[in-house]
Amino acid sequence: LWVANVLKEERMKKEMLVIGYGNQGSVWAKNLRDSGWQVKVSGRSSADGGKGIQQAARDGFKTVEPTELYLCEDQNIAILLPDEQTEDFAEKYLNTQKRKKKNTFYFAHAFAITFKKFSYLAEDDIVLVAPKGWGAKLRENFKKGGGLFGVLAVEEDKSQKAWSKAMAVAEGLGLCRVGTVNATFDQETHADLLSEQAVLCGPVPFLVDKCFRFLLSKGIPAEMALQECVRELQIVVDLINERGLEQTLKGASLAARYGGLKAATFLINEKELNNNLEQLWQNITDGSFAKDLDQEKEKGYPELTQWFERYQEHPVDQQL
Ligand SMILES: NC(=O)c1ccc[n+]([C@@H]2O[C@H](COP(=O)([O-])OP(=O)(O)OC[C@H]3O[C@@H](n4cnc5c(N)ncnc54)[C@H](OP(=O)(O)O)[C@@H]3O)[C@@H](O)[C@H]2O)c1
Repeated sequence: LWVANVLKEERMKKEMLVIGYGNQGSVWAKNLRDSGWQVKVSGRSSADGGKGIQQAARDGFKTVEPTELYLCEDQNIAILLPDEQTEDFAEKYLNTQKRKKKNTFYFAHAFAITFKKFSYLAEDDIVLVAPKGWGAKLRENFKKGGGLFGVLAVEEDKSQKAWSKAMAVAEGLGLCRVGTVNATFDQETHADLLSEQAVLCGPVPFLVDKCFRFLLSKGIPAEMALQECVRELQIVVDLINERGLEQTLKGASLAARYGGLKAATFLINEKELNNNLEQLWQNITDGSFAKDLDQEKEKGYPELTQWFERYQEHPVDQQL
């Protein structure tokens, strides 16, 4: 009701130009359209090999060539490009030297603003609506009447309506059905990068890979190893989510609890972990990680390619 009042009060245009039609862009476009917004899509032009813009046209969206972006005025524009590509794209197509007209820019992750990869006009509003999870999950939940939790922030509020705009977009995406929290751009960038690096995209896949392959090497059938390392992980995560850590561990058998807590004392060196977390946090907050990512990009991602090798055509994937 509050959002409905805000929309009415502000008479906000429910129109969005989505730039980038990938994991997030395609979902923003579809969820907003289903919520009654008028959506157009732009991105890498077909001439430059862009596939997203062609897919968007097939999905029934009006598309806008990137060369026309200078002409936009007073539009809601969602920048949903890969973070490491945003600067080049913005420099080429949204350059503030040529773009004289004010707009409201929305981001799904605060990275580009925190690390100054996106320059904007003094008159622009800069808004964060960050769904906490994969685009595909947001779409799947949205279609069932749900959504995902969202982090909202405002970096520039020249119109004095930026928070209302953030809420309206969060509502259209389905985030308000789950919940939102207000934060700053820097907080979202730092927390998001830390959780990706320290939990979600580093240690968790690594441990699954290691334990799964280890069980196979000991003659355990693959279907069984899948249950132990993947399906049960899902159950544990769901339980932590629903009941918390204490009740999840209490719900395990005493042998499981004793064995697991004992193994953690020697599998993980807590002192080293604390130091490494501090190091990760420092690299993220002082901009070293963003510089490192730029250098890796310039070299053509040699390290990423090497580290990713162990996950390609993974035996876990063949069991699903
Ligand atoms: N992955 C997620 O679900 C997720 C979750 C939360 C927040 N986010 C945030 O959402 C934003 C978008 O991430 P994403 O995962 O959706 O990106 P993505 O799927 O990797 O790519 C999005 C679009 O960017 C285009 N693109 C790729 N390289 C480009 C380039 N060099 N120049 C111009 N366009 C290029 C692609 O166009 P083509 O199709 O033409 O190649 C694609 O349509 C990021 O800020 C990210 O941090 C993502």
